[in-house]
Amino acid sequence: MRILSVVGARPEFVKLAPVAKAMQSHGIDHVIVHTDQHYDDSMSDVFFRDLGIPVPDVHLAIGSDTHGRQTGAMLAKLDEVLEQHGPDWVLVYGDTNSTTAGALSAVKMHIPLAHLEAGLRSFNRTMPEEHNRVITDHLADLCLAPTEVAMGHLATEGLAARSVNVGDVMTDVLLQVRGMVSGTEAALPAELNGRPFRVATLHRAENTDDPERLASIVKALSGLDPSTLLLAHPRLRARAAEHGVDLTTGGLVTIDPLPYPQLVRAVMASVGVVTDSGGLQKEAFQLRVPCTTIRTETEWTETVELGWNLVVPDPAALADALDRPAPPETDATPYGDGNAAGRAVEAIVNRTA
Ligand code: UD1
Repeated sequence: MRILSVVGARPEFVKLAPVAKAMQSHGIDHVIVHTDQHYDDSMSDVFFRDLGIPVPDVHLAIGSDTHGRQTGAMLAKLDEVLEQHGPDWVLVYGDTNSTTAGALSAVKMHIPLAHLEAGLRSFNRTMPEEHNRVITDHLADLCLAPTEVAMGHLATEGLAARSVNVGDVMTDVLLQVRGMVSGTEAALPAELNGRPFRVATLHRAENTDDPERLASIVKALSGLDPSTLLLAHPRLRARAAEHGVDLTTGGLVTIDPLPYPQLVRAVMASVGVVTDSGGLQKEAFQLRVPCTTIRTETEWTETVELGWNLVVPDPAALADALDRPAPPETDATPYGDGNAAGRAVEAIVNRTA
């Protein structure tokens, strides 16, 4: 059996890591197609190296552009790739433009489509990720959901019969990497001087692309005590430079994005996380580090319900929000047991039989 994975952006590589291993142990002929939506070493290759992901079989060399042109360019190239490899299934991950391009290509070529991390909803129709999720779930023949909440959303949209809760594959990776790095020193910038710090990331269009909003978030972060280690995504650096926003003021210590193991280790060493990333909200919860999410909503509602994540839309309210009491201890595992990738591959194989 041949399964072709389409990936392109950083969070997809993290999800691909355990899936590629599970494909191997199930004897699947796994073809990996990288759209090159993310192309910098720190956004792409380092994840393949650190997480032991096989080198992609195909690179589409698409790169950055407007959403329409970027997605369109991927679509234009994928027909030929799918024709050449003739997979039994196409597997797409998450909610990026690469996900949507892979999904559309598969269904247009009448190839069965599986969507991993199906059923997430922010119900915010201005987010590109929300468009990508909704489109992909409705195109997919098999929706591989990470949680019961996601299963509920799929059922509400009439997709229950083609949905399976396999658990969250990012939990598979996190548990492995946590074990790997827990006895090691965190490699942190000297400016932090061994003092307590928070980890922050910021990359969503709704936070980076509006100059006023970006300036007010950066101002809030720079005024925090203790210092904030800001891991700057290329989009953040590009927009900050464009809008004249200084990412090095006040208590900000700004560095490039970290490789995954170092990110996990840095979060473990931190007193808290401030982010607009989906994955990091979950990672913080699973490492039992309080998270504050600078958005109007979250897809990972379990983290909020369990008291480990607070959604704070207004940057001016950030400092007070970070002052809140420590979250209640919990041993809840809403994201599965770390064996989601194996279940995802089995679900595809079973659907074929
Ligand atoms: C994409 C995904 C988002 C995901 C995020 C994780 C979509 C719509 N969005 O957003 O869901 O959470 O990845 O990182 O697919 N850039 C570089 N080098 C790179 C990659 C990007 O410099 O390796 C720059 C580009 O020039 C562009 C910006 O970053 O200006 C945005 O990249 P893009 O892939 O369009 O979207 P992301 O913001 O990364």
